Amino acid sequence: MRHLLSAADLDRQEIIEILDLSEEMAQVLHRPIKKLPALRGRTVVNLFFEDSTRTRSSFEIAGKWLSADVINISAKGSSVSKGESLRDTVLTVAAMGVDALVIRHQASGAPLQASQWIDAHVINAGDGTHEHPTQALLDAFTIRRHLRRHDPTVEDFAGKTVAIVGDITHSRVARSNVALLRTLGADVIMVAPPTLLPSGIETWPVEVDTDLDAVLGRADIVMMLRVQRERMSGGYFPTPREYTVSYGLTRDRLRLLKPEAAICHPGPMNRGLEISADAADAANSLILDQVAGGVAIRMSVLYQLLGGADEVADHAVPAPAEATTTKEPVR
Ligand code: NCD
Repeated sequence: MRHLLSAADLDRQEIIEILDLSEEMAQVLHRPIKKLPALRGRTVVNLFFEDSTRTRSSFEIAGKWLSADVINISAKGSSVSKGESLRDTVLTVAAMGVDALVIRHQASGAPLQASQWIDAHVINAGDGTHEHPTQALLDAFTIRRHLRRHDPTVEDFAGKTVAIVGDITHSRVARSNVALLRTLGADVIMVAPPTLLPSGIETWPVEVDTDLDAVLGRADIVMMLRVQRERMSGGYFPTPREYTVSYGLTRDRLRLLKPEAAICHPGPMNRGLEISADAADAANSLILDQVAGGVAIRMSVLYQLLGGADEVADHAVPAPAEATTTKEPVR
């Protein structure tokens, strides 16, 4: 694996390998000294053009626990706000000799473009409404751990049903999850008001429903999505209250769930809109497990991209010709 741009690029074996390695990485969380030497001397840059709490900080923690040097650059407070182009920003950062660039950008496809401009490994930390592969991986990690509590032999999600509910139109989390969950064999049901179902959804390998109450009793996992008001220009639903009545995971709806079903949400949550406090804080809510799993997953992904024996050997004795990190000359 050279870059991580899309969940759709990963086959079943690669996903299982990342999940298994994450189980080992997760052990570090329980140690008094949370440090492995694996990425000593490697440099990871988090380049974030959109707001983030958990994704940015968990990449930072993951890098630091693996002993990499981690630098954070956010658009606010950088030369991006002076009008610098994406290409110039990416080339500038790469020219400082970074090994991995973790990029979040409002434009779908920005991480792919960045990967074509530089030699460093590129990780997509969310691009527009397109993909957010490490979120789907951490969701799969969390779901698999939940399923293993009942059956420790669970490897993938064959025979399981995941309902993804809410603002699918604007959700990169939904897109990455569909790819990953389907590769792992799960059945996926997308539930949303017709206005929040993206055009072309009939070509996705999923079932689509607009009636949440009819779906809840069939799901092993209910994944609620945030209503992304910052990406909405028009009226996608009449009022927040009406959205909650039809599509919110309210206290009353919890009764419709199977007893062993679990609740996920990528965060940040709009409590009281798409998810009630009763659901978010329920015993079967995995929301904080998702956050904890996010660090383990990002440690595995960084390790897989940067920690290979060849990479480390190359890095230990850099050839003079490797001094430049860009493929094309910077003019
Ligand atoms: C998501 C994102 O930014 O795509 N959050 C996250 O990374 N945990 C989902 C969202 O913003 O609703």
